[in-house]
Amino acid sequence: MKFNLRQTDDFVVKFVPSDLEDGCEKINSLLESKYFNGENGECFLNLGQGGPELFVGIGKEEEKTPDSLKTAGLAAGKYLAKLGKEKIYVKLRSQKGLDSGQQTLAVAEGLLNASYCFDKYKKDKEDFSLTEVNFEPMLAGNVKESDFEDLLYKWEGIKFTRDLVNTPSIDMYPQVLAMEAMKLADLGVSVTVYDRDKIEEIGMSAYLSVARGSAKEPLLIVMELNPGDGKPIALVGKGLTYDSGGYSLKPTASMKTMMSDMAGGATVIGAMKALALSKCSKPVVGIIAACENMISGDAYKPGDIIPSLAGLNIEIDNTDAEGRLTLADAVCFAERTFMPSMIVDIATLTGACVVALGEHYSGVLGNCQERVKQVMAAAASENEKVWELPDTEDFRKLNESKVADINNTGGRWGGASAAGLFVGAFVEDTDWVHIDIAGPAYNDKPYLYEPMGATGHMVKTLYRLVKDF
Ligand code: BES
Ligand code: ZN
Ligand code: ZN
Repeated sequence: MKFNLRQTDDFVVKFVPSDLEDGCEKINSLLESKYFNGENGECFLNLGQGGPELFVGIGKEEEKTPDSLKTAGLAAGKYLAKLGKEKIYVKLRSQKGLDSGQQTLAVAEGLLNASYCFDKYKKDKEDFSLTEVNFEPMLAGNVKESDFEDLLYKWEGIKFTRDLVNTPSIDMYPQVLAMEAMKLADLGVSVTVYDRDKIEEIGMSAYLSVARGSAKEPLLIVMELNPGDGKPIALVGKGLTYDSGGYSLKPTASMKTMMSDMAGGATVIGAMKALALSKCSKPVVGIIAACENMISGDAYKPGDIIPSLAGLNIEIDNTDAEGRLTLADAVCFAERTFMPSMIVDIATLTGACVVALGEHYSGVLGNCQERVKQVMAAAASENEKVWELPDTEDFRKLNESKVADINNTGGRWGGASAAGLFVGAFVEDTDWVHIDIAGPAYNDKPYLYEPMGATGHMVKTLYRLVKDF
């Protein structure tokens, strides 16, 4: 899709608030008619006077948010797809509240979201025709060409992430994930993949313990953008291409969507793609310790005590708390190998985080308050929902073990903090921030402008964090 600021005579799409005060006669009489009420996402095809044109409601002026405008954009995009429209001319009839430029970008993002459909496994593919969106320049605010470019880079990353996460684990296992990451080489990302022997040689025993039960080989994926240009930011993503729970087996209902347990890794790949497309000059390294958590005669078991790269012995209380084990070795590897200025780990780590914050917020904590704030500011500027998790000493105590250096579960309460702090225990001397995306990474049903399934949540935040670093 291409976005422009210019006047054209393409099919007109008007975004209209329900309480528009200074509208033209046509809009006013339409709103009075009750055939169109301007409710958010409501679409009305005007075939009468001045038509054909599409009216899209955006709700009350003062209730308008970037989210509601994206949702209206999504509804418009879906409607336009049914009409088979390829080019449109958008008039944003809403100048109050939010900055007009921000409104334009939100509508554009909504339209992009209408184009996404995971239909790889369907014979009947959904048609999407829209290729060009022209915004009426006087109504679009101070958007720059580069803002649209930025949006499109992030969108490419998000689509990539969503496809990786949505693909079921029968077709998306470490080898496939690594091959997908290697596609970034065309964009200037150098990708190195380590196999089991090499991972063993490095000493990542905690990671390998998780991988033991699966017939699929674990692969450590390392992606570097601008290596050698100073200390990189390290993005470490949880890469469980399937999490059955292992011997601490998950109940059937919670197991079905566990192909999404590599969403953190996929988010890192998506963000790396967006950054590479934008020709970002900052050094970044993306690390994914990819594997499956399965059951077999050789799988790790509750009660095992396993070593780790950092040298800490870990008591396995529950084999379903596997993500923190792979991440413990991955953050330690990141720190020792790349000496990064900052480590950000991102993971579908705990159900407890979803219980605490709901389905649409990510939990954040870290070992440096300034860095935590920096990540949260990046999220705020991208309108992604995050909330800080408590990280005091009492939560760290939850991970104490009677027989080893640390325990892999912190008990029933405060599980999101305990899991995050577990990972932090393996970072020796580097600023580190943890993001738990267990809730927002994957939707059981569509939410606002997001589809059912993978969302690509936090690709934009990681992109913004690196760009503004
Ligand atoms: N992958 C899960 C966390 C998860 C839950 C992600 C729901 C997405 C949706 C993780 O590996 C896990 O199973 N965590 C356990 C930890 C527990 C055993 C301490 C959990 O959250 O129940
Ligand atoms: Zn698990
Ligand atoms: Zn998991």
